[in-house]
Amino acid sequence: MTFLRVIGFSVVLLGFYALFAQTLPQVEPDLSDPVEVSTDGLDMEGMIALGESLFTGKGTCTLCHNGMGRAPDTLEMDLAATFPSRLADPKYTGVSAGKTGPEAIEDYIRESMQHPSAYVVAGFGKKGSNDTESPMPTVDKAPIELSPVEMNAVIAFLQDRAGLDPTVPLPSADEAPVAEEPATEGMVEAPVTDALAAIDKYNCAACHNLKDSGADLGPELGGIANRMTRAQVMEAILDPNATIAKGFSAGLMPEDFSDEMHTSELLLIVDYLLALPEPAPQEETDEEEPLATTALEVIDKFGCAGCHDLDGSEADVGPRLQGVGQRMTREELKSAITNPNATIAKGFEPDMMPDDFGETIADSEMPLLLDYLMNLPE
Ligand code: HEC
Ligand code: HEC
Ligand code: HEC
Repeated sequence: MTFLRVIGFSVVLLGFYALFAQTLPQVEPDLSDPVEVSTDGLDMEGMIALGESLFTGKGTCTLCHNGMGRAPDTLEMDLAATFPSRLADPKYTGVSAGKTGPEAIEDYIRESMQHPSAYVVAGFGKKGSNDTESPMPTVDKAPIELSPVEMNAVIAFLQDRAGLDPTVPLPSADEAPVAEEPATEGMVEAPVTDALAAIDKYNCAACHNLKDSGADLGPELGGIANRMTRAQVMEAILDPNATIAKGFSAGLMPEDFSDEMHTSELLLIVDYLLALPEPAPQEETDEEEPLATTALEVIDKFGCAGCHDLDGSEADVGPRLQGVGQRMTREELKSAITNPNATIAKGFEPDMMPDDFGETIADSEMPLLLDYLMNLPE
């Protein structure tokens, strides 16, 4: 028995090393620094080309803007139609609201990059924000950090794709040069040597709440050591669709980390994640919950039917409330809800019913609830 287990274990381990050997680059790292390219003298063709390489490369835009549904599929959409319709949307109140023409579109694209929440494309907002908050990172801040010239290049690229003549200024001689990644044709970038740099390099914080990014496209990773083994965390990074975190959809997390990441980087990231403390407990969420506007919503919001036979629940942890208006005054009923341990219903134990409804049920919700219960027929 023990013997079998040991064999099983080493087979699993071997499997893991075999996986690494196959998937992680074994290529000698290219240790040259990024090349500084002067943008002086760049013409508009050059700007458009630079914009394209930024969109798919350093800008990491295609991490989200692709066909997977996590952001508008910008490179496939008909931008000539999309941009004007955004500006005309009555919900759009940003810098170009009510304007038309290529300059207005230039401003709209720049605003989308610097203030993503100025307009949130319907259906793409942060969960629970009702499309008022964008999950897109601000691209002129870390970790993406595009310079003004680089943002202009991206705008030129998108304007060109929308069939417009780009309206952005060409870079001048005194503008800072653009750092271009060294040609990586057939070569692999040098590994970084600390965990936070690795997390920046692969942009994990764009989707996970790492480095206080607050991002929530992917699960919270704080306290992950309490729910996943080291091997599971590695698998989640190298083969994200093997198991899908509860509440999230498949296909969202990039699948190509196994091609790009050095083993040393993977180990740094995994050690870092496994050491992350549990996130601080959420602030009182009751305050965020919208006010209930009908008695049944109040009952639903505070879970009364989980214990009482209400709304057809047939629960019997607490007494039947049918006909309660005949045996209690409205005042007594209110006190039974807000101060349940003052008198205990016959045949039931104290301290069963939550004793904080006095604070959590809003002033506008209490009368709805009382009216409903007072009128419940026998
Ligand atoms: C982490 C995911 C993510 C990354 C990375 C990202 N975006 Fe976005 N972007 C979104 C989402 C989601 C939306 C839709 C919500 C909104 O309107 O803000 C969006 C919206 C936009 C819009 C408005 C689109 C429209 O149809 O009107 C533009 C323009 C844009 N992004 C450009 C960029 C550029 C340029 C980059 C790279 C420099 C980038 N994004 C990187 C997620 C991302
Ligand atoms: C474009 C968004 C995106 C990026 C970038 C991203 N992730 Fe994810 N990640 C997700 C989503 C969505 C899930 C949940 C679905 C799934 O399990 O595949 C996830 C799941 C995970 C899980 C499993 C969590 C769990 O609770 O099961 C881990 C671990 C993880 N990601 C780590 C990383 C690391 C490390 C990086 C950077 C190297 C990274 N992710 C980059 C979106 C992303
Ligand atoms: C976790 C279970 C639980 C929940 C949730 C709960 N109750 Fe109760 N409730 C009880 C129990 C047990 C009693 C009997 C003991 C007592 O009187 O405190 C009781 C007693 C009462 C009484 C007094 C009945 C009587 O005949 O004396 C009223 C009225 C009442 N609950 C209303 C509510 C309302 C309204 C809600 C939702 C806002 C609610 N309860 C939620 C368990 C619960």
